[in-house]
Amino acid sequence: MSGLVSVREGITDLLVPEGFSRKGPGTRTEEVFYNRQMEFGRDISVIFGREVLKEGQRILDGLAATGARGLRMANECGVRADFELNDRDLRAAVLMKENAELNSLGHVRIHCRDLRALLSEEQFDFIDIDPFGSPVDFVDSAVQSCRNRGVVALAATDTAPLYGAYPKTSLRRYGALSSRSPFGHETGLRILIGFVAREAAKHDRGIEPMLCYHADHYFRCYLRILNGAGKADACLRHFGYAGYDRKTLERWTSDVRKTKTDAGPLWLGPLMSGDTVKRMKATGDLGTSPRCGKIIDVWRSEVGMPALFYVVDELARKTKLSPPKTQNFLSFLRDRGADASGTHFDPKGVKTDLRAKDLIKEYKSCARGNRTR
Ligand SMILES: C[S@@+](CC[C@H](N)C(=O)[O-])C[C@H]1O[C@@H](n2cnc3c(N)ncnc32)[C@H](O)[C@@H]1O
Repeated sequence: MSGLVSVREGITDLLVPEGFSRKGPGTRTEEVFYNRQMEFGRDISVIFGREVLKEGQRILDGLAATGARGLRMANECGVRADFELNDRDLRAAVLMKENAELNSLGHVRIHCRDLRALLSEEQFDFIDIDPFGSPVDFVDSAVQSCRNRGVVALAATDTAPLYGAYPKTSLRRYGALSSRSPFGHETGLRILIGFVAREAAKHDRGIEPMLCYHADHYFRCYLRILNGAGKADACLRHFGYAGYDRKTLERWTSDVRKTKTDAGPLWLGPLMSGDTVKRMKATGDLGTSPRCGKIIDVWRSEVGMPALFYVVDELARKTKLSPPKTQNFLSFLRDRGADASGTHFDPKGVKTDLRAKDLIKEYKSCARGNRTR
């Protein structure tokens, strides 16, 4: 193939189109798709795969393009499993084969099919869906094709509807109203998880979030799929709505819609498994290792914290007191006996069990102390 350049991610070499996207979420182009900025997300896939994938499993990168993600997982997870790559674009299939050979991964199986057709015929233990925009077209077939206790991994880059900029699009696409708020990134992620949980429930299957996060301009979820109507029912008990009062800053989650701007129905259960994130390690062979290490630390601190977060800037506006450093405010809250953590959704975000009025009181004493220091 002409017009290719060689790049290295982790310990994997990849031939990619010369004019590849270096920045931004990446859009459809005439060439086989490759976005260097997604290296971080692929590093996380490798770290996750090292902890979760097992020998002998069938692992599919369903929308593989150059094969970057699936080949890296095959090459870097250290698991002897059956790795398979698929893309309906023949040029992508040819390029991923070349990339497989470049890394002595000639055994990796290549498909060139519509992903939905492939999923309707075969079963896998791990299915990655990394689409342009929304994954909705593939979710139903993925949850059916995934074996019991297997993992469906999916990304969504249609963030504007999910953040709350286009609530009606979110309603059409995901069956849930989104809403603009300081914690809109979190409700967007929870709408996406809720959508997958409902699709799985149709087939008497439940989901268990192993790792769901927001980064740059996308959401990514790794969800375990569990057989049984009981598992599906247990998931439905995690559904509800989320909202807040702009004046008092009070947040709520509820199983009924309290105001017409509440986001939902959405997933109110955990976003990740504490056990999995505890085991994940950002090793030095990964190109974005320092960033991975930082975000894994924040994920660990978020495990078990309540849904929805506050943003220090909102508290500053409300109290007209300039904000302390977020880390200082978090230490202040913990010293005062509150449960508090940062959040990967926002560098100025604070997760806590405090009610808004108590948090505002604490903020005032922290910010005033800060001023007199
Ligand atoms: C965003 S790219 C995937 C990027 C890749 N996972 C990576 O990490 O570089 C989406 C790919 O999905 C492929 N695609 C879109 N719809 C498809 C379908 N219905 N079946 C199979 N492949 C499809 C496109 O050809 C494109 O290569």
